[in-house]
Amino acid sequence: MGDPIGPDWLASVPAREALAGLDGRMREAVAASDPALWAMATALQRRGGKRIRPALLLVAAEFGTARPAHLLDAAAALELLHLASLYHDDVMDRAVTRRHGPSVNAEWGEPAAVVAGTFLVARAIALLAAFDDRYGREAASALVALCTGQLRETENAFYTGLTEAEHLEIIAGKTATLFELPCRMGALLAGASPATVEALAGYGHDLGVAFQLTDDALDVRGSYAALGKRPLTDVREGVYTMSVLRLLARDTAVAGRVRDLLEVREPTAAELTEVAELVVASGAVDEVLAEARSRAAQAARRLDPLPSGPARDSLVRLADYAVTRAG
Ligand code: IPE
Ligand code: IPE
Ligand code: MG
Ligand code: MG
Repeated sequence: MGDPIGPDWLASVPAREALAGLDGRMREAVAASDPALWAMATALQRRGGKRIRPALLLVAAEFGTARPAHLLDAAAALELLHLASLYHDDVMDRAVTRRHGPSVNAEWGEPAAVVAGTFLVARAIALLAAFDDRYGREAASALVALCTGQLRETENAFYTGLTEAEHLEIIAGKTATLFELPCRMGALLAGASPATVEALAGYGHDLGVAFQLTDDALDVRGSYAALGKRPLTDVREGVYTMSVLRLLARDTAVAGRVRDLLEVREPTAAELTEVAELVVASGAVDEVLAEARSRAAQAARRLDPLPSGPARDSLVRLADYAVTRAG
């Protein structure tokens, strides 16, 4: 049997083979008699995505001693939870694009997108119900942290005085939790030692922060062609991420100009582009990418105590990919 298609960073053959079955399992999990619900629930799944969270679970499980049954169900549940967070996030961010096409809210409207996102959470819960109670509790507390992070972000919209520490706490809640969860769950399901579980969970957390810092930098400097989602959504919605916050903290004429532009509600495309150009020219985006790289390196170092091999190599490669990617 040939090596199934999978992301470039995934060096582990068992994880690649398992990942090849993910789509089928997810389709079964979201089967619905209501045609509109089914169409909405499969819309983004059909357009791919990087599948990082389910892949993390599959790789983490290789650090245990057991070959857990139903591992793919757990992987599918995590991708469904991630997808649900995207459906709801796109409503919150008024995003019209996702995964190289229209967002669910752009195609079906905001109320329907909220319902479809909640439906995905329900089906993820159904998948997790087959496992020990502990996994449901782990997933629930990750989602509570995600909700708290998302809420803090909206509460601070258009606030130029947000500190970097506060911003990092938001990122940890809204994104790092869904990177840590698959690492922890995969390792626990496979009966890994407590030290291994903690090393992998710490890796997932640091990776998640590095991943979101990069996503934020790409929102300022990336392209739709590479990202599959329209850039400059954060600035438009008043979500000031690290590069913008760093520039604003400077006492310069450029910072003053950016502050004036940010005061415009519903800015034009030209105004958004000017903000982006000034932030990039200030060097702040490069600084954030450097910060992301150093956090990714810290994530990789957490794996030092773990046995070497394709599983550890995959995670080290993922840490590099997370902060060097264009999309
Ligand atoms: C998008 O996550 C949400 C963030 C945490 C930035 P991904 O970039 O992993 O989205 P997909 O799954 O590849 O579409
Ligand atoms: C979203 O962060 C994090 C969650 C989905 C919880 P972003 O708002 O930056 O994600 P994108 O850029 O829309 O993918
Ligand atoms: Mg968003
Ligand atoms: Mg983003």
